[in-house]
Amino acid sequence: MTQPTPASPPAPSPATDVVLDVQDLYVGYYRDLNILQGVNLEARKGQITTILGANGVGKSTLLKAIYGFLRPNSGEIRFEGQDIQDVPTHERIRLGISYIPQQPGIFRWMTVEENLELGAWTFRHDRERIRRKLEENYERFPALKDRRHSKAGELSGGMQRMVEIGRTLMTDPKLILVDEPTAGLAKLLSEMVYQMLVDLRDLEGLTIVLVDQEIRYALAVADYVYVLELGRNKFQGPVSEFTDLEKAFWVG
Ligand SMILES: Nc1ncnc2c1ncn2[C@@H]1O[C@H](COP(=O)(O)OP(=O)(O)O)[C@@H](O)[C@H]1O
Ligand SMILES: [Mg+2]
Repeated sequence: MTQPTPASPPAPSPATDVVLDVQDLYVGYYRDLNILQGVNLEARKGQITTILGANGVGKSTLLKAIYGFLRPNSGEIRFEGQDIQDVPTHERIRLGISYIPQQPGIFRWMTVEENLELGAWTFRHDRERIRRKLEENYERFPALKDRRHSKAGELSGGMQRMVEIGRTLMTDPKLILVDEPTAGLAKLLSEMVYQMLVDLRDLEGLTIVLVDQEIRYALAVADYVYVLELGRNKFQGPVSEFTDLEKAFWVG
């Protein structure tokens, strides 16, 4: 009698868990004046990929290009294997990409709930889905439920970030692009925001690309790190290899 052979585990296929794949990207704001000059970036499923770099190197520009706000002069942007170069932003949202810009985008005179509902623009006629997504958000962030009828402008900076994150989650994103989410926030509020990102990764399996200037926090939550310099990749590696800060930074 032949022994049953134990089922072998599926061979690891590192390529398949790449959610976002940016190759050799050249993009800028005016004609062929490229701010990014051949940038590469991969973001893997369920990981936080952090992009660091000094002011003005092009971190926000990179996120805008991934979201479709800027059209690259050359290079490739793939999302789940699909070339999205010609896909407009509202379609990228449908595919599962969302973006939280560097400038806070809260509508201060609207309520928390109205701000959340703005995230449902792409399915604004589907009241039932909107209701479901609001409930999910209130379960995720009970503090928002308590304040749902408050004007967003009355909330703390950290809670306002929570509203923005909640709004972006209305569309069921698979990939969230977050640009300096704690700029201008006090330490405790910053920690709350990073904890939200970690929870989205660990509890909901979301893939996050985080642009940050808060090196210490950014490294504490990152799985993989990129450093940009003058529109190019300077360093990349798993966070565990990212011990020599000076290799990457001006750190003082
Ligand atoms: N809307 C814009 N129009 C023209 N140039 C811009 C615009 N936004 C940013 N830039 C320029 O692009 C470069 C990169 O900016 P940015 O991507 O915002 O850098 P970072 O986010 O890394 O601080 C900077 O030199 C900046 O002046
Ligand atoms: Mg920026």
